[in-house]
Amino acid sequence: MDGKKPVILSGIQPTGQLHLGNYEGALRNWVDLQDKYNMYLCVVDWHSLTSDFNDTGAMQDRIIQTAFDFLAAGLDPKKCSIFVQSDVKEHAELHLLFSMIIPTPWLERVPSYKEKSETLGLDSYGFLGYPLLQAADILLYKAEFVPVGKDQLPHIELTREVARRFNNLYRTVFPEPDGLLSKFPAIPGTDGRKMSKSYNNDIKLADTPELTAKKLKGMITDPQKVYKGDPGHPDICSVYGLHQVYSGDTSGIFNDCTSGALGCADCKKRLTDNLNDSLAPLRGKRKELENDLPYVLNTLKEGADQARQTAVATMADVRSAMNLVRNNV
Ligand code: TRP
Repeated sequence: MDGKKPVILSGIQPTGQLHLGNYEGALRNWVDLQDKYNMYLCVVDWHSLTSDFNDTGAMQDRIIQTAFDFLAAGLDPKKCSIFVQSDVKEHAELHLLFSMIIPTPWLERVPSYKEKSETLGLDSYGFLGYPLLQAADILLYKAEFVPVGKDQLPHIELTREVARRFNNLYRTVFPEPDGLLSKFPAIPGTDGRKMSKSYNNDIKLADTPELTAKKLKGMITDPQKVYKGDPGHPDICSVYGLHQVYSGDTSGIFNDCTSGALGCADCKKRLTDNLNDSLAPLRGKRKELENDLPYVLNTLKEGADQARQTAVATMADVRSAMNLVRNNV
């Protein structure tokens, strides 16, 4: 990595195999950013414990599957540090120190806390601290920008407040980072809702072309288009939504659906071919990586070694600012 470029950091929970929504919403953007920034990408296994602490059996597999997708998508370990949060223990120390200086109400009013504590019944001490651990992830590397989706902006705002409070209490150690939002297409799932692993409506990058075809075949289309000749409404159809991402110029599809010339089965078939063609290189690369687990494990190890160098330096600074270092007393 090149020390002169601005530092950015993003994090992703190890949910296992990633889907098209993850790809279009995050991965693809990170691949572009890796040339312009010093980028840290952190697979946040500790964060995933705030909700999935009772089922950790597949944790390591979920981490590796995430790493396969990162590398298959074109993230280059020579250009960015890809690492697992729990491999760099400094995240935990910084989180602990922040937990001493941040008033609990700051955390209780974060929107995701209110929402999820009610809907998912999450009530652990660690869950309340979720955004504080995220602030530690970001500030440990003194990141200036954080590429994330809009939903994460309250967490970035909290991170700025944490940095400000630390800097005021002790001395200026941390920058106040900004979110880095990018435009990306909405990716509908096979049931028309937003694509999400938890809705079970996703298409994985790792799915075979056959499974992709099967999932697309079962997709819900315009409910008013029952027979092939019926005029359709592409604007409300999630198959058309995916065509707009994967089929280039879609004006022909739009017109033929609207006039009734194009039936849903043919339309899905065309989407299947286009989507499978566009994912073929990524899937090919993923297969190679699956056959070279030692390379992927080593990439994560080297990513952590690199991240740790920065993390260790920041923690030395933090401890010294807080007078936690015994110099010649
Ligand atoms: N909360 C983020 C999410 O759910 C994941 C995350 C953890 C993160 N630490 C981060 C994102 C640091 C950006 C920076 O998507």
